[in-house]
Amino acid sequence: MAGRLHDQHVFVTGGSRGIGAAIVEKALAEGARVSFIDIEQQAGEALLASLQTKCCYFGVGSVTSAADIAGVHNEAVKRFGPVTGLVNNAGRNSYADPVAMTETDWDDVFAVDLKAAWLVARQVLPAMIAQQRGSIVNIASIHADMTYPGFFPYAAAKSGLVGLTRSLALDMGKHQIRVNALSPGYTETFLVKEFFEKNDASLRQKVLDAHPLERMGTPVEIANCVAFLLSDEASFVTGSNWRVDGGLSARFAG
Ligand SMILES: NC(=O)c1ccc[n+]([C@@H]2O[C@H](COP(=O)([O-])OP(=O)(O)OC[C@H]3O[C@@H](n4cnc5c(N)ncnc54)[C@H](O)[C@@H]3O)[C@@H](O)[C@H]2O)c1
Repeated sequence: MAGRLHDQHVFVTGGSRGIGAAIVEKALAEGARVSFIDIEQQAGEALLASLQTKCCYFGVGSVTSAADIAGVHNEAVKRFGPVTGLVNNAGRNSYADPVAMTETDWDDVFAVDLKAAWLVARQVLPAMIAQQRGSIVNIASIHADMTYPGFFPYAAAKSGLVGLTRSLALDMGKHQIRVNALSPGYTETFLVKEFFEKNDASLRQKVLDAHPLERMGTPVEIANCVAFLLSDEASFVTGSNWRVDGGLSARFAG
C-alpha cells in the first residue's frame, strides 16, 4: 500500500538529529521524497548514509541565511521536484538573563526560533501557490503556552512562531496551503539532555512525576503527528497548534 506521503516532496529543517531526524525517517517511510538542511554536517551525512535511499537529500546550511536556504532548496527541487510539505523544525534553547542579555544574543535566538520559519516558508511558498497545494508544519513548543524559569526568551520566540502559523494559515488558505504548529512537550533529544544537565539531578524525576503518562515523549511520537499534519488526512486542519506533550499542559501545580 502506498504511504500517506507517497506523492510529496517534504523539506525538513534541522533534520540531522533529534526530532528532525525522526521526521525525515517517518516521511520516507510514508513514501515521500525528503530533503533536509542542517548546520551539523557530520550528523546529517551519517543519517543520510544510514537511510540507504535515493529518495533523500541532505544539504549543509543555516536556516538563518536566506542564501543557504535557497542553495539547499534549489538543489533539492532539482532532484525531487517542487516542495509540497515543509517542516520548520530547526530550533535552539535559550537560557539568557533578561538583564544581561545583549541585543546580539536576542537576535541570534529569534533568527533560529522565529525568523527562519518565515525565511524557509518564503522560499517554498511560490511553488506551493503555483500548485495550489501545500502543508507547512512549524515545530513550536509547549513553551508557547506556558514556560519555565531561566529559559528567556525561548517562550517569546515560540509564541511568535504560533502567531506566524496563524497569519500564514489565513493568508495561504485561499491557495489550499495548510499551515499548522506542533508544540512538543519534553521529548528525549539533545535539547532535553542539555536542559537536565543544567539543573539539579532530582529535576528529572519531578518532571516525570508531573506527566500523566509518567514518561517523556520520543522523537518518533512527534514525527507521527507531523506526518498526519503533512498528509491529506489532515485536509481540514489549518491554523492550529497541536500539543504533543503527554498531557503535561493539562495539569497545574499541586
Ligand atoms: N526536545 C524537546 O523536548 C522539545 C520540546 C519542545 C520543542 N522542541 C523543538 O523541537 C525542535 C527540534 O528540537 P530537538 O529537541 O530535536 O533538538 P536537537 O538539538 O536535537 O535538534 C535540532 C536540530 O536543528 C539543527 N539546527 C539548529 N540551528 C540550526 C540552524 N541555524 N540551521 C540549520 N539547522 C539548525 C541542529 O543542528 C539540530 O540538528 C526545535 O525547534 C525545538 O525547539 C523540542
